[in-house]
Parts: sequence; C-alpha cells; structure tokens
Amino acid sequence: MIILGIETSCDETAASIIRGTNDKIKILSNVVSSQIEIHKKYGGVVPEVAAREHVLNILPVINEALNKADLTPALSLSRRGRFIDAIVVTTGPGLITSLLVGVETAKTLAYAWGAPVVAINHIEGHIYANFINSKPKFPALILTVSGGHTMLILMTGHGKYKLLGETRDDAAGEAFDKAAQLLNLGYPGGPAIAACASKLKVESENLKVKLPRPMFNSGDFDFSFSGLKTALLYEIQKDKNWKKKVSEYAYEFQQAVAEVLIHKTIKAALKYNCKNIMLSGGVAANIELRNQLKEAVKNKLIGAKLIIPEFKYCTDNAAMVATAGYFRAKQKKFTPWQKLKAEANRELM
Ligand code: KG4
Ligand code: ZN
Repeated sequence: MIILGIETSCDETAASIIRGTNDKIKILSNVVSSQIEIHKKYGGVVPEVAAREHVLNILPVINEALNKADLTPALSLSRRGRFIDAIVVTTGPGLITSLLVGVETAKTLAYAWGAPVVAINHIEGHIYANFINSKPKFPALILTVSGGHTMLILMTGHGKYKLLGETRDDAAGEAFDKAAQLLNLGYPGGPAIAACASKLKVESENLKVKLPRPMFNSGDFDFSFSGLKTALLYEIQKDKNWKKKVSEYAYEFQQAVAEVLIHKTIKAALKYNCKNIMLSGGVAANIELRNQLKEAVKNKLIGAKLIIPEFKYCTDNAAMVATAGYFRAKQKKFTPWQKLKAEANRELM
C-alpha cells in the first residue's frame, strides 16, 4: 500500500510517502519544512504566522515528497486513484489555523486523485513513529512527551488506547520551552536546555543546584511540570550568580523532568505487565531521557523491550502520520473527504 502522509498541526509543514507491506514500513520520502527560524524571534509559535507559512509551503513540500518517491503528480492524475492507495492527514489536536491547511489540502487531493482519506490524531502519529522500524507487541506502554502533551498510555491493539495518566498542567516539552526562556537559552527550549546541560562542568553528584521532582511519589501516573518551572524561577531569582551557572540549572531541570517521567513509566509497566515500552513525541529526542530510560528498563524491567524512534521521527513529521494511517487503512477506517474536519482539541480516546 502506497500512502501520502500530511502533517501541519503546529509549525512544521511535512509530507511523506511510505510503502506498507505486511505491517512492514518503508519510508520512500520524508520532507519537513520547519518554521523554527521564523518563530524564534517571538519566543514561540505565532499561530497566524504559522498558518500563512503552511499555505506557502504545503504544495511544494508535497511535490518534493512525491518526486523523491518517484511519483509525479502528472502521473497521478492520469492514473486516478491508483498511484496512491490512501491520503493520511493529521486532523488534530493542534493549532486550528495550521490544521486547516493540511486538512483542506488533503480534501482537495482526495477529490482530484480519487483516493480514500484517513484522519489521524497527532498523538497517534507520534505513537506510530515506533512502528516505522519495529514491530511492537501488545499490550505496550507508551510515554508520550511533546510540546502539547505528556501522557502514559496503555496500547492494547492497533488504535486501542487507555489513558493511565497525563500532565495536570504544562506538558514536558512546554516546560522545557518555558525553562529555556527563563534561562535565556532561546527557542525551541528542549534542544537548547539539552545542549546547555551537556556543557556541565561540575560532577553531577556535586551539583549544588536542586529542584523538586514534582509528583514523584503521588502514587498515580499523572504529572505536573508548571511548579518545576516556578521553582526554577525562584532559584535563579535568589542566585546572583545564576548566569555563570546556567548549565547547572539546565542540567538539573532536565534531570528533574527525566527522573519523574522514567519513574512513572517503570511503575506503569510493572503494574500493567507491559513487555514493550515505547517513547514518543518531540521530547523523545532528548538524549538524557533516552539513555536513562534505556538503563532503567534494562535494570528494572527484566525481559522488556524498549522502542525509541529515530531522532528524525521524534519531532513532528509526516512519516509517522502516514504509518499510523497505514494501519488504519488496512482496517478500512476511511473518512469521506466531504466529512474531513480539523479539530483543535481532538481526543485520542
Ligand atoms: O512533538 P513535537 O515536535 O511537537 C508537538 O507535538 O508539540 O514536540 C515539540 C517539543 C518542544 O516543546 C521542544 O522543546 C521539545 O519537543 N523537544 C525537546 C527536544 N527536542 C524537541 N525537548 C527536550 N530535548 C530535546 N532534545
Ligand atoms: Zn507533535
């Protein structure tokens, strides 16, 4: 099955062509046009600006994805409905003005090419980044950590999810972004904090800077990161020399987030007897989180398998969306293009 995936939920315009055969995925092209440079000067994504950029980028990005996969739009029109088996598009959650661009494009192409459409949830897209190079077994536990979501999800089959816990306030990525702003490290905050933390000069055991581990012992699978950001603010307000110790604050902040995420993931895996653990979302690109989670799974979940997407499939991309769509298309879960709708607050379950 040849699939075109389209992703425009936030500030990345992305298109990908994949081939799915017997649940094995081959990425034929994966094009991402990032707007980071444009939004950097505002310290975050400006929805209106993002939408306008998507409008400019969407067709060139799709064209490039088709060309890289050796599929030309001219050929497609002449072989109506055959050159692509399905168009998969993210319909939410996300910024409504951004989502609309991908959704309207998918509708138009579905009509022009006579191709069926799959409407994918953005979080489900992140989850399926794990299915690109692996064949996870169910029940699987997924730690989803992105700019908008932090969730522990039990996955019992394709498209079957149970929410075990989530953040009560800021998402992990959002916390990284806000902490980076406090530390004057720029946007996006996750990679900036990680890069700064890696320059730590003191031994981590001798670190004087201390931040809380919010909800570590709460006994449930929920998270809270907004207090951690406030704790960081209070600490640097008290410390006249904080600018000389930015890497210490960055390191400790990253460590606080990672420790809570890992602790709850291990507890949930034990409770629900999951032998397959997956990491997903933009924060999954964090090297410390990846390495420390690997260690924890190895030491505390004997016999369990940890699956982590390649870096390029962690942050927003359309290959993950196309992959999620492949598994839906196999079950014939299509949406008539006339009924396709962008939903800013689309729920996973
Ligand atoms: O999944 P994503 O690309 O977009 C959303 O769906 O939100 O995630 C973006 C988030 C941002 O908050 C960004 O700071 C964070 O992922 N992020 C990271 C890293 N790379 C991206 N956080 C920590 N470490 C990273 N290396
Ligand atoms: Zn995302």
